[in-house]
Amino acid sequence: MTGNGNLSGGFFITGTDTGVGKTVITAGLAGCLKRKGINVGVMKPIVSGVNSKNLRGPVPEDAVFAMKAAGVTDELELVSPCCLELPLAPRVAAEIQGVTINLSKVMEAYRELRQRHEVMLVEGAGGIMVPVFDRFLMADLIKMMKLPVIIVSRPNLGTVNHTLLTVEYARARGIPIAGIIINGLKEDEAGLAERTNPGLIAELSGVPVLGIIPYVDSVNVDTCTTGQIVEKVETNIDLKKILNFIMPHKNV
Ligand SMILES: Nc1ncnc2c1ncn2[C@@H]1O[C@H](COP(=O)(O)OP(=O)(O)OP(=O)(O)O)[C@@H](O)[C@H]1O
Ligand SMILES: [Mg+2]
Repeated sequence: MTGNGNLSGGFFITGTDTGVGKTVITAGLAGCLKRKGINVGVMKPIVSGVNSKNLRGPVPEDAVFAMKAAGVTDELELVSPCCLELPLAPRVAAEIQGVTINLSKVMEAYRELRQRHEVMLVEGAGGIMVPVFDRFLMADLIKMMKLPVIIVSRPNLGTVNHTLLTVEYARARGIPIAGIIINGLKEDEAGLAERTNPGLIAELSGVPVLGIIPYVDSVNVDTCTTGQIVEKVETNIDLKKILNFIMPHKNV
C-alpha cells in the first residue's frame, strides 16, 4: 500500500470489535505524534456507556484518556459531542434512551477540531459496521470524515477472520486503510496462533501490519492511567509509515 496524497488530516481508529484496544492505541499514537512535535487532536465522536452515576457528571473515559496522552485541552463537548448512557451499539442505546443522535453536531465538532489540529485521531465505537442510527453505520461516519482507517486487532485465535472481514468491508465501502495494529500481545502466553497471525493477516489482506503492541501492565483506561503506552507504541509501531500515508512530504 502506498501513501495517499489525497488524504490529510488524520486517521479513524477502528477495530475488529469493542474492547480490542482502540482507545489505548489512539492514546499511544497521539502521544508519539506529540513527541514528534506534531499538533495532534483526538476525538471520540460517539460514545456509549458513559458513566452517568459519576456525581461530577458524565465522563467519556475514552476521550479523557486519549486527551491526556495527546496533551490537549479541547472542550469535552467537542471531543465527545455525542454521549449515550447505555453500553450498547449507539443506535440501540439512543433508541432505548429516547434520544436522537445529532450527526450535524458531531460533524461540526469534528470540523472545529480539524481546524485546530494538524492531525486528528478519531476513535470509533465498536467495529466498522456498528449501527449508529437507522441504517447509518460507523463506516458511513468514517466516509463523512474522509479519513483513512487504522484497524486495531486482537493477537489471538479468531483475529485473522475478524481482521480480514474488517479489511474487506472497508475496501467494499471505498475506505482507505493505512494499516493494522495488533494490540495486547501477552508474550509469555503466546502460542502458535499469536506467532502466525500477523504474517497471515498481512499476506492475505495486502495491508501492512504496522506493529504489535504488547499487553502493558501499567495501562488502564478505566482509571485513566496511560502508563508506558506512548513508549510502547514508539518502540513497536512504524510511525513513519503511518504519517507517510497522509503526509508523504513530512520528515519525521
Ligand atoms: N496493550 C494493552 N495493555 C494493557 N491493557 C490494555 C491494552 N490494550 C487495551 N487494554 C485494556 O483493555 C480494555 C479495553 O481497551 P480499550 O478501552 O482501549 O478498548 P476499545 O477498543 O477502545 O473499547 P471500546 O469499544 O469500548 O471503545 C481497557 O481496560 C484497557 O485498559
Ligand atoms: Mg474505546
